[in-house]
Amino acid sequence: MELYNEKLEAEFQSKIDSGQNIEAKDWMPEKYRKTHIRQISQHAHSEIIGMLPEGNWITRAPSLKRKITLLAKVQDEGGHGLYLYSAAETLGISRAELNEQLNSGRAKYSSIFNYPAVTWADMGAVGWLVDGAAIMNQVMLTRTSYGPYARAMVRICKEESFHQRQGYEIMLTLSKGTEVQKRMAQDALNRWWWPSLMMFGPRDEESVHTEQAMKWKIKLKSNDELRQQFVDQTVPQAELLGLTIPDPKLKWNAERGHYDFGDIDWEEFKRVVAGKGPCSYERLKTRNEAWDKGAWVREAAMAFAEKQQEKSLKEAS
Ligand code: 3HC
Repeated sequence: MELYNEKLEAEFQSKIDSGQNIEAKDWMPEKYRKTHIRQISQHAHSEIIGMLPEGNWITRAPSLKRKITLLAKVQDEGGHGLYLYSAAETLGISRAELNEQLNSGRAKYSSIFNYPAVTWADMGAVGWLVDGAAIMNQVMLTRTSYGPYARAMVRICKEESFHQRQGYEIMLTLSKGTEVQKRMAQDALNRWWWPSLMMFGPRDEESVHTEQAMKWKIKLKSNDELRQQFVDQTVPQAELLGLTIPDPKLKWNAERGHYDFGDIDWEEFKRVVAGKGPCSYERLKTRNEAWDKGAWVREAAMAFAEKQQEKSLKEAS
């Protein structure tokens, strides 16, 4: 039995090494299956919880155009959650279980969504920085080894890039606007900068999953590599806006060919991931209320599906 598993595992790894996808019905090590359920579901939860800070601004968007765009963006995030939950389900976990893990507070989701969005400029900063950081991490996931996840990510990345651009355009408008608008944009950048850098996860030496994730081609770049790439890409964008990144240690390092940047507050990161972020309680409360309020919709959909099934059985007999 052990020899049999070793052979299967060696075949599995060589499939990954040669760049082939693993599909839902293929043999896979139990740890690979569980790792994917963990990552895909955390990702799905992040999309769904990520709807909350921005959903809060739909009724207060400053114009009809802004409102329509924000509404579309928030709906996209809901769609991303659905593709990802479906990808997780192919690994043998039910949607009900995934939902229970989120609503009970047992599941993790991205730390970033535990921060409040307090002004309209936050809609710009979230799109520009948060979606910008998300794409940087997620483009590599379009080439991840698990087929259903990789395919879901292709569509998600296309939509995320529209999200990033709409955020940047809000920041551009504000930063070229009145003094008050420019101050609002700067204030939003000040509050979202460091939490955005934390989105990439712990430093490489503290990242427990990276080594295995790279072997299985789930991750193609490490947390620190992606964080550096994000800083390098974002600094010139901030300069174009005429805004200042809130980091006195930020400096171009010609020798490395990268920006050096200041220390991340890892204690804050750990606190937020442990469920003690500024909005952690509120996010889960809202999520649970939405689940309870939606009970009648789920019941109605089930009743309709049962009726349809009865009807087609009758017609067939
Ligand atoms: N927030 C919360 N938890 C985090 C985190 C963060 N920013 N970064 C890492 N963690 C958690 C990990 O989930 C892991 O917890 P676990 O062992 O209990 O599951 C632990 O910290 C150790 O971190 P590792 O670096 O070892 O973990 P990973 O190898 O899984 O790397 C990751 C973390 C880079 C986030 C990776 O899981 C990943 O690429 N996930 C898919 C993308 C994703 O989920 N992005 C979240 C944002 S989605 C989004 O922003 C929506 C968009 O619409 C804006």
